[in-house]
Amino acid sequence: MCGIVGYVGPQKPSTKPLDVVLEGLGRLEYRGYDSAGVALAAPELDSIAQAKKSGKLVNLKEELAARPLAQATAAIGHTRWATHGGPSDVNAHPHLALDGKLAVIHNGIIENFFHIRRELEEQGVTFTSETDTEAAAHLLGIEYQKSGDLTEAMRNVARQLHGTFTLLAVHADHPDTVVGARHDSPLVVGIGDGENFLGSDVAAFIAHTREALELGQDEIVTITPDAVHVINFDGETVEPKHYTVDWDAAAAEKGGYWSFMAKEIDDQPQAVADTLLGRTNEKGDLVLDDLRIDESVLRTIDKIIVIACGTAAYAGHVAKYAIEHWCRIPVEVELAHEFRYRDPIVTPRTLVVAISQSGETMDTLMAVRHAQEQGAKVISIVNTHGSTIPRESDAVLYTHAGPEVAVASTKAFVSQIAAAYLLGLYFAQLRGNKFRDEIQAILAELRDMPAKITETLNRSGRVKEIARWMADTSSVLFLGRHVGYPIALEGALKLKELAYIHAEGFAAGELKHGPIALIEPGQPVFVIVPSPRGRDSLHSKVISNIQEIRARGARTLAIAEDGDTQVEAFADEVFWVPQCPTLMSPLLTIIPLQIFAAELAHAKGLDVDQPRNLAKSVTVE
Ligand code: AGP
Ligand code: GLU
Repeated sequence: MCGIVGYVGPQKPSTKPLDVVLEGLGRLEYRGYDSAGVALAAPELDSIAQAKKSGKLVNLKEELAARPLAQATAAIGHTRWATHGGPSDVNAHPHLALDGKLAVIHNGIIENFFHIRRELEEQGVTFTSETDTEAAAHLLGIEYQKSGDLTEAMRNVARQLHGTFTLLAVHADHPDTVVGARHDSPLVVGIGDGENFLGSDVAAFIAHTREALELGQDEIVTITPDAVHVINFDGETVEPKHYTVDWDAAAAEKGGYWSFMAKEIDDQPQAVADTLLGRTNEKGDLVLDDLRIDESVLRTIDKIIVIACGTAAYAGHVAKYAIEHWCRIPVEVELAHEFRYRDPIVTPRTLVVAISQSGETMDTLMAVRHAQEQGAKVISIVNTHGSTIPRESDAVLYTHAGPEVAVASTKAFVSQIAAAYLLGLYFAQLRGNKFRDEIQAILAELRDMPAKITETLNRSGRVKEIARWMADTSSVLFLGRHVGYPIALEGALKLKELAYIHAEGFAAGELKHGPIALIEPGQPVFVIVPSPRGRDSLHSKVISNIQEIRARGARTLAIAEDGDTQVEAFADEVFWVPQCPTLMSPLLTIIPLQIFAAELAHAKGLDVDQPRNLAKSVTVE
């Protein structure tokens, strides 16, 4: 999820390998991380030289200044975005094996790490960290001892891992080699003259070369100073596609996107897929991270209160519909800053769910503390590992959206919905509201969503065109019903915070109780249309709402599912999303609204990554 750099050069040890790796990590650090480390090999060294520190790169550089590493001929470097084990020196990468002769760095999530770790510990392997990565490192050490061939060892390990991974390894006995493997996580090769590079993206080495090789899914790459060799997981040689990078360094840090916002909108399928990874045990039952609340306590819960702010609150609002439907537990959704001061009714049978991308929002943190003072248990749904809110919660369910750099939240939002759904299904499982096969069926629907999000993203051309046409708009309204209502609220928030345009979301049924007075000829109104396949009454009611506003001259922009033939007759524009179950539809209907807001802001020449007046984490009340 974060940054990887690899380098191998002339076999005359120098400072260059370390310099290349630190420079590459520096170009990747904009994207957010919580620790960093490097590992070096050289003919003179009989083991790996390494340094790693939690916090920013500057901490690692201070460590290296205080305890310089030997000059090297090969180096790998990593910036970590913690998923398993909090940010700490011990959990930072690289992870060593074979008594310090082998070093491994990893981006991604190893879903079956616990099973691997248990087996290795039974074989007497000693672990020092809490990470999933260290299991891969020791497994690689064992495979290497069988063949003495680092490439073959990496291939055998890659075939045993489940989840997402980019792995790099360097061994003290092969200071002219770096080996990498990728599955559902990026890795690219940089081609030099008498030297070669690896990186999680081209930003890692763009200062040294623009000649690159694209690595495909399930491939192993071995680089030496004068050669690059690629095989697939079956051991067959692969000819990678060569290309010349035409991005500038700034664009490269965004992976070639014009903004982090654009990149993070496109990252949403992966963010949801990663959030869903590793949530079931061998029997297929749901398991939660760091669950420190006894199941017997959870069974007595008679009310859930979701507390959050902004976009996170809208994710909680979406989840309310699902959790109440699946678990028959009342779910209240409260803005944290309102909950904190309204003397809420909280008992030991109240469960508070705090949702926060940063895990540092002061309003939410204060609400968590207040809830705990009132005797409630708190589960937090957070994206940033080791942040304050999960540390103070009774349990945590991490989203795995990766670092979200743009201030306006997108991939964290869809990941929060996915995580909240997992929590709801966990309660349904615990309380017996649903049988295992029913839960598995809903999990399967959830796991289908990344591909449907990708399909929705592929349809973004028309909404971008409309956004550019509407760049001078001064007001946009958003209507939705049921799970479409919080999407209307979130769509309005995106437009406000990115394009600085007045925008307001309404429950479609509320229109006739006042807001319809706002409708005048030409007023743009987005309408999130429920599936006609769900509860038809909702669909027909929203069609009626569209007719009400069209009768008063509104310009209607509908978001509707494929095959909804009725809506076309009443909409000036229809942005189609793939069919999916009603409760899953928010993961799709928000996509055109995110793209609309970002594209319109871009057309206005605004900074979509750092909008005026806003901070990524509001750490004041
Ligand atoms: C979202 O686009 C906004 N930047 C803001 O509303 C944000 O969701 C809110 O401040 C909560 O932040 P958190 O998720 O880090 O707690
Ligand atoms: N899952 C690994 C860890 O938690 C790698 C995280 C990353 O992608 O940076 O250490």
